[in-house]
Amino acid sequence: MFHILIADPISDEGLDVLHKGKDVSITKETDLKPEELEKRIPEFDALLVRSQTKVTRSIIERADKLKIIGRAGVGVDNIDLDAATENGVIVVNAPNGNTNSAAEHTMAMIMTLSRKIPQAHSALKNHKWERSKYVGVEVKNKTLGIVGLGRIGTEVAYRAKGQRMNIIAYDPFLTEEKADKMGIQYGELEDVLREADYITVHTPLMQETRHMIGAEAFRQMKDGVHIVNCARGGIIEEDALYDAIVSGKVDGAAIDVLEEEPFHDHKLLELPQVVATPHLGASTVEAQENVAIDVCRDVLSHLSGEMVKNPVNLPSLPGDILSQIEPYFNLAEKLGMFLIRLTEDVPEEVNIYYSGDLSEVEIAPITRNAVKGMLERHLGSHVNDVNALFLAEKKDITIHENRTSTTKGFTNLMTVEVKTKSGVRSVSGTLLNGLGARIVRVDNYSVDVMPEGHLVVIHHNDQPGVIGKMGSLLSDQHINIATMQVDRSDVGGNAIMILTIDKYPEQQDLEALKKLEEINDVTAVDL
Ligand code: NAD
Ligand code: MLT
Repeated sequence: MFHILIADPISDEGLDVLHKGKDVSITKETDLKPEELEKRIPEFDALLVRSQTKVTRSIIERADKLKIIGRAGVGVDNIDLDAATENGVIVVNAPNGNTNSAAEHTMAMIMTLSRKIPQAHSALKNHKWERSKYVGVEVKNKTLGIVGLGRIGTEVAYRAKGQRMNIIAYDPFLTEEKADKMGIQYGELEDVLREADYITVHTPLMQETRHMIGAEAFRQMKDGVHIVNCARGGIIEEDALYDAIVSGKVDGAAIDVLEEEPFHDHKLLELPQVVATPHLGASTVEAQENVAIDVCRDVLSHLSGEMVKNPVNLPSLPGDILSQIEPYFNLAEKLGMFLIRLTEDVPEEVNIYYSGDLSEVEIAPITRNAVKGMLERHLGSHVNDVNALFLAEKKDITIHENRTSTTKGFTNLMTVEVKTKSGVRSVSGTLLNGLGARIVRVDNYSVDVMPEGHLVVIHHNDQPGVIGKMGSLLSDQHINIATMQVDRSDVGGNAIMILTIDKYPEQQDLEALKKLEEINDVTAVDL
């Protein structure tokens, strides 16, 4: 008998799916406090949640029988994925079922902001007939800026076009050609901030997007801009939004999500210009049915030993093959992560070359890890080795695997090469017997770098004194250099320097380095 705990409200249609499963018992306890969940979790084989329950490491570590966590929705930021993977617990989600609802909610928020409907409604309920106070604006011919043009952002764009809005969007995977095909304008983040009358965010919440809309971003926006967040609390910095509303920069904000949820007493809610809903983007009958059915099917499949459709963290390989290639997964992922940091334009084609020992093993899972490393910078934690190739295809990136005999003296060598509209970049790595992974080549430069920790990649001119200047500048910022690798194309020509430093550098540290005249380019890479 498998015991399934439903810890957040989940639609009955999903429960019907579970009830049809063989040998399952279902417990529904949707108000458990964290400490109660921690106590109860050892009884269960499966846990089903939405975004309310935080599935922390301490809960997972106590869950001796737990085999699967089902997330009825997209974002898995409420689940400690590392802890789940370490403890052999598979996490599944339902990435597609609530896209329409979240897009419709966003449109409702945009219209609500424009016509001040909630404010007028509450005045009327308080017996105040205030027609002149609630004059709105049309959205027709206004510019909607979309930050994050994935599943939901794209659906919002199509709907807003129906409202005759002009759309400008920024997404690291958006190209001018794709934007043209959709009939929207392509922009960098700064263009979106500068040109939009309405800005709506649809990115995942992760290190790179946390507080991406802060005081500096508000400064760049038009006066009287409208802001919408139906994605995740934390993408917009709340204090900066508050200040921008109070100063009159922002005319109105519509918020479905905040950093701390549930939210009751937040200072933003005190402002008359703010319209808020309690994380209702996916709360429609249809979306809840869709996500509950998808996730419950996956839970039953897994409990009965079948493949799941939407794994978030699945390690799924036969033991003998796995033991042969597993050591390369980390190298591949790190090469992908490293390379994507050096690549500013949208990747169009990725070539992965395997040689030496690697030319004789099962390479597909290694490729998936390299692609996962490349994609997770922008797609966040829902990219995994199972869905990486599928997501790359969705983003129009072609992946080629090649077995070659060029070992350059290494017993195993893997090269990841990315083509973008501005050229080709590549990085090679190897596993050194007993010494672990190394990056051994970046473009045409030879290096020897452990792919871990805080790296800074510097392209500079090979001139006397440059290393000293750079070292003293970093020491002024109290940044300790742990390792340094240097190579050059020719004497006095282009050169590369890769530093491992003891802490992730602040933006101003990188800017200070860029100001040195011999330095052409500085990129921080956190591995
Ligand atoms: P998605 O993965 O399909 O799309 C996210 C897009 O963001 C990707 O195309 C990615 O390239 C882009 N992106 C990543 N980093 C970026 C950056 N720095 N700048 C600009 N774009 C960036 O995800 P989705 O299904 O469209 O979901 C979007 C968000 O909505 C997620 O945060 C999800 O958790 C949230 N969501 C909220 C609700 C709700 O109830 N309010 C419902 C569903 C989804
Ligand atoms: C999601 O990520 O799917 C949404 O935030 C909806 C939800 O949490 O139910």
